Amino acid sequence: MSERFDVVVIGAGASGLMCAAEAGKRGRKVLVLDHAKKPGRKILISGGGRCNFSNYDVSPSNFICQNPHFVKSALSQYTNWDFISMVSKHEIEFEEREHGQLFCVDSAKQIVQMLLDECDLNFIEFRYQVGVTDIESISAGYSLLANGSKVECESLVIATGGLSMPKLGATPFGYQVAEQFGLDIVSTTAGLVPFTLHKQDKIDFSELSGIAIPAEICAEDGTTFKEALLFTHRGLSGPSVLQVSSYWRAGQKVTINLVPEADVKELLLQSREKHPNQSLKNTLSKVLPKRLIEVLIERKQLTDKPLKQLNHKEYDQVAETLEGWQIVPNGTEGYRTAEVTLGGVDTKHLSSKNMECKAFPGLFFIGEVMDVTGWLGGYNFSWCWSSGFVAGQKA
Ligand code: FDA
Repeated sequence: MSERFDVVVIGAGASGLMCAAEAGKRGRKVLVLDHAKKPGRKILISGGGRCNFSNYDVSPSNFICQNPHFVKSALSQYTNWDFISMVSKHEIEFEEREHGQLFCVDSAKQIVQMLLDECDLNFIEFRYQVGVTDIESISAGYSLLANGSKVECESLVIATGGLSMPKLGATPFGYQVAEQFGLDIVSTTAGLVPFTLHKQDKIDFSELSGIAIPAEICAEDGTTFKEALLFTHRGLSGPSVLQVSSYWRAGQKVTINLVPEADVKELLLQSREKHPNQSLKNTLSKVLPKRLIEVLIERKQLTDKPLKQLNHKEYDQVAETLEGWQIVPNGTEGYRTAEVTLGGVDTKHLSSKNMECKAFPGLFFIGEVMDVTGWLGGYNFSWCWSSGFVAGQKA
């Protein structure tokens, strides 16, 4: 005996809930399966419990994908404004933070509840703590075993996310399904993740742990982010570091402007006119934490002396050191703390219109499991809403 549904969605996370809600609105009989005890665990912890659910400014340039055009169709079919309208319709209070980021004022729980409320239970059934095995393509769609019981469906949607934060239930399930059907996987790696440092750098900078400064960080490919940088006891973190980590590859350096708001040479020349006997350290402490300057002096990257003793070449060198500080991270903290997984199911196999697999009609991949990764700032959820929505119109 087997049960039959129009649509089975595996994964009750951001993209799976959106897709299920939309398919249900079309009158499709939907079954949502998840191995976790409850839906939307990542939504609940996101944004420090307030869920950075979207952004006022969402465009294809905020996403990393081997085919940069792939995201355009879904993002235009379901925009950030569509999701903002849904949030408003459910009377969830939200606020704008830096860079257009939108957060719940109260709790991320409201976003999960909103998505569940959008699911018409006349059409949609949820089952938790279910292990899915034995997925097969059959003449009338797909079949699988859910905790050992056979389920058949016309459309199968894989919404099982990426590898980040295994303790929250992340598994490689989606990649394994893709491989089973012969689809390529763009190699996966941790994204939006803090950097760890080589031994000596770690020793030198760990005492700055907890200090945050505004910074402009540039990856070797030229991608640059201007946001806060945070020294930690393991290495470097903060929004600018998380952002650039998605563009960094092992062995590469990052170049950091530690004083993006000031022109260092100008500052030094002006200060020399007024206070020629003032030390370099005291002058720079107007724009940088004193302890950071001391560490750079200890590392011989700066030489402390009265401003009047510095020649023009030395002014240039100080500016170069601070505006183009280079560091080669040892690595990243990996999936344990990463917010996302870079890479995933290669989009060349999928329709950009509805995320359906070109070679396997009725099989869909949505959300983070695909090779689409958003910037920090609500973009990863934006991709879940858009890809989940478009798949929900077809599945
Ligand atoms: P998601 O991971 O949400 O859901 C996958 C579901 O599949 C889970 O319910 C899981 O239990 C289930 N599953 C996995 N394997 C399975 C299996 N083998 N069998 C059955 N079920 C299985 N993004 C953003 O835009 N704004 C933010 O504020 C944040 N904040 C944030 C904080 C932290 C700490 C993390 C780790 C991540 C974020 N993100 C974020 C990223 C965002 O959470 C992420 O991109 C989306 O949740 C991805 O949604 P998906 O639906 O693709 O997978």
